[in-house]
Amino acid sequence: MNQNINLRNPFTQTPLQEQAEGLTENGTVVFPYKNGAYRLVEDDNYTQNFGYQWNKFAETQIDQAQKNQQLSLRRVFAVTGWDKQDLQDKNILEVGSGAGRFSQVILDHTKATLYSVDYSNAVEANFKNNGHHNGRFHLYQASVYDMPFEKGQFDKVFCFGVIQHTPDVQKTVQSLISMAKPGAEVIVDFYCVNGWWTKVQAKYIFRPITKKWSNEKLLKKIEKNVDWMISATTFFNKIGIGRFVNRFIPICDIKGTLPQGISKKELREWCILDTFDMFSPEYDQPQKVSTVKRWFEENGMEKVWGGTIKFDNSTAYVVKGIKKS
Ligand SMILES: C[S@@+](CC[C@H](N)C(=O)[O-])C[C@H]1O[C@@H](n2cnc3c(N)ncnc32)[C@H](O)[C@@H]1O
Repeated sequence: MNQNINLRNPFTQTPLQEQAEGLTENGTVVFPYKNGAYRLVEDDNYTQNFGYQWNKFAETQIDQAQKNQQLSLRRVFAVTGWDKQDLQDKNILEVGSGAGRFSQVILDHTKATLYSVDYSNAVEANFKNNGHHNGRFHLYQASVYDMPFEKGQFDKVFCFGVIQHTPDVQKTVQSLISMAKPGAEVIVDFYCVNGWWTKVQAKYIFRPITKKWSNEKLLKKIEKNVDWMISATTFFNKIGIGRFVNRFIPICDIKGTLPQGISKKELREWCILDTFDMFSPEYDQPQKVSTVKRWFEENGMEKVWGGTIKFDNSTAYVVKGIKKS
C-alpha cells in the first residue's frame, strides 16, 4: 500500500494540504494550482530559459511522441538499474523534470507514484505530456532548495541532467539526500569534468555572452546557423578529425549525445534544442564524479557508487547510494 507524502511549506514549515485550487494552510491557498502544477515560485527566475525551451520543444525528447524512439526509457533503466516490479507502490521524487521525458518513463512503465519538481514553468510542458496519469502524478514548480515535502519520506530520489545547472551544486546534492527515507536510494547524473580540456570548447567560451541574450535572439541565431554546423561537424567526423575540431563549432555533440537513425528533420530539431540548452543556462558547473561521490558519503549515504554508464551511443556520469538507516 502506497504511503502518502506529507507536504510542508518550505518557508514556514507549516503543514500543507493538496486541494484542487492549490496547496492550502488551514483552508487558505498559499501556493496556487495553475495549468497542472502547484506553484511555489514565480516564472521569472534563473531557469526561465529552461521554461522557454521545454515549452517550445515540449515533445522533441518525449518517447511517446517520437514513434519507435525509446531513448528516455533506455536511459532511465540503464542509469538506475531499477526493477519495474519493485517500484510498485513506491513514492519517487524527480527533481528538475523539464518537459517530463523521464516522468513519462516512470509513469508509463511502473506503478510508482511520482512527485516531480522543476523550478521553471517547464512544469506546463510536463503536464501536457503526462497529466493524464491522474492520482499517481504530482507536479510542483519549486526549487530543489525549497521543496514542499517533509524530509525523509521518499523511497527513491532521482535527478538527471540538473545539478550542474544549479547555483550551489553541493547544497543541491544535500537537499536531494534530505528527501530520501532511511534505506532509500538517491541517484544523480550530471555533466562531468574530465580535465582542463573539458572547458576548452565552444560552450564554455561563448556561454558567458549567449546566456545574456534573450531566448528569442539565441534561438534565431541557432536556427539560422544549424544547417551548416550539422554539415561541418558531420564532415569532420567522416574524415576522422571531429573529436578535435568539432568542440570549437557552437553546436551540440551530434555523435555523442543524439539518437542514431532519426530523420534529417528530427535531427535538426534535436540539434536546435540541445544547442539552445548549451548556450542559455545561467549556471553550467560540471563536476568530478569523485567530488559528488564524496558529498554523498559526507551526507549520510552508504554503498555509494560513482562512475560511467553507457547506453546507446551516450555515456552518463552517475553517482548513487543508499541513505543510512
Ligand atoms: C537540462 S534540464 C534537464 C531536464 C530533464 N531532467 C531532462 O533531462 O530532460 C535542467 C532542468 O533543471 C531545472 N532546474 C534548474 N535549477 C533548478 C532548481 N534549483 N530546482 C529545480 N529545478 C531546477 C531546470 O528548470 C531544467 O528544467
